[in-house]
Amino acid sequence: SGNVTNICCVGAGYVGGPTCAIIAKQNPHIKVTVVDLSEPRIAAWKSNSLPIYEPGLQEIVEVARDGTDGRQPNLHFSTEISKAIDEAELIFISVNTPTKLAGVGSGSASDLAYVESAARHIAEVATSDKIIVEKSTVPCGTAESLREIFSGLADPSVKFHILSNPEFLAEGTAINDLLEPDRILIGHLPEEKAAADALVNVYAAWVPQQNIKTINLWSSELAKLAANCMLAQRISSINSLSAVCEATGADIDEVAYAVGLDTRIGSRMLKASAGFGGSCFKKDVLSLVYISETLHLPEVAEYWRSVVEINEYQKQRFTRRMIKRLYNTLSRKKIAVLGFAYKKNTGDTRETAAITVISQLIAEGAKVAIYDPQVSENQIIHDLQSANPAKNIKDSITIYPDAVSACSDACAIAILTEWDQFKTDLIPAPKSQPPAPVPQLRNLTLEDSTATSSDLSSASSDAGSESPEMSAAHASTPLSTPPTEDALEGKPGSER
Ligand code: NAI
Repeated sequence: SGNVTNICCVGAGYVGGPTCAIIAKQNPHIKVTVVDLSEPRIAAWKSNSLPIYEPGLQEIVEVARDGTDGRQPNLHFSTEISKAIDEAELIFISVNTPTKLAGVGSGSASDLAYVESAARHIAEVATSDKIIVEKSTVPCGTAESLREIFSGLADPSVKFHILSNPEFLAEGTAINDLLEPDRILIGHLPEEKAAADALVNVYAAWVPQQNIKTINLWSSELAKLAANCMLAQRISSINSLSAVCEATGADIDEVAYAVGLDTRIGSRMLKASAGFGGSCFKKDVLSLVYISETLHLPEVAEYWRSVVEINEYQKQRFTRRMIKRLYNTLSRKKIAVLGFAYKKNTGDTRETAAITVISQLIAEGAKVAIYDPQVSENQIIHDLQSANPAKNIKDSITIYPDAVSACSDACAIAILTEWDQFKTDLIPAPKSQPPAPVPQLRNLTLEDSTATSSDLSSASSDAGSESPEMSAAHASTPLSTPPTEDALEGKPGSER
């Protein structure tokens, strides 16, 4: 209990890296060491090109890691896992928990292999008492499995105090989410109050006490899954309504706006898109599906499974609609795709709707022109090649250095990530644009030749916390003139 002075975090990913950078920055007296099995990942964290893109992260890392504000550096990155574990009083387990791909629960259960191997490693090398913090998103009951691993493997004189402290940051807004969290959840058993207090003190360095909630261990584990499932469900709900809008002449942006004015519903996470992506929503919904099935609650499992099914439906619908608008053939047509990341302000492409949409366009014979401001050419090729193993993907795609060249001579433009720059990238500079044609262009793009932003909005989700997300997609028959801002942007209802 009391105050910890040495923290280790196992897993230097999208969660472990930013979370520990903030903890270190806000607690100059605590030594924080983030460890990972991956040598290149740790090398990148030590370098000037961090392994993940996250606005504001670089500055925070430089303060804590390099002492740029004059402090003693207190944030370290290392592959010496055993040493960091042994020195720490408190250890975050922040490793990946993907969907299981084989064996029992394959396709829906969370794969706890990485959590288990981290726990075994801790059990084997710990020589002093440890507070163990589940930071990874895990199925309800995982803390009990951890307890068994420790009691089976560890030196019996070493005590392990297990806490749940799920992370609610969303990629793209991680730094702000970490600095001003809606809440910090710390779940513990009654007998672990002292350990929970020690973790409370770490966060109390910058989070108001009333926002730090200590709750029952199992509630805490389930609350994280529940939050992601309900966020994903909101997106599937609005996406399902977008199909109704397209069939009736209602406008999904207007419907979302009107619905969101109800304070019981609220306006955020209500933007129709080509489907959510990211590493968390799908796997967390499927994890809840699996938990419900194993608890013999088939109705509950079916209910949540439909959230994922609507998301798949939406991705298919998006591409099918583009194809239909292009006279049912994409053969050799140039189709521009703006955005490849699963949401704006990240370079993360895990589960991005762009992979599904582009793969379908390629299957139709299209030549796809892709631009994303943060995703590297290698990453795009890697993702699309893995999704289409039977093809040589380079025959069908070209990566462009900017939006304008990607869209040049394209038959259609699909905006699959809501990067802010896409709102202006294709708008000609005022001087070169004669004033008169603008209204005509608007009419043309909105009514005549295109599927507009509201019926084919695209793109994204996040991994844990609300963020207004949006983007537009724009599938048009040959577009000789750049689309207007109206046609391009999926306007959040709040802007109306
Ligand atoms: P990630 O895949 O970016 O990072 C996990 C890291 O753990 C990898 O670098 C991997 O090499 C390392 N690792 C795996 N096993 C290890 C071991 N035994 N010892 C040392 N290192 C090991 O994953 P990410 O995105 O950071 O997610 C981590 C957890 O946080 C997941 O459970 C996820 O559901 C949850 N989460 C993710 C959010 C996100 O936005 N990405 C938000 C909130 C929660």
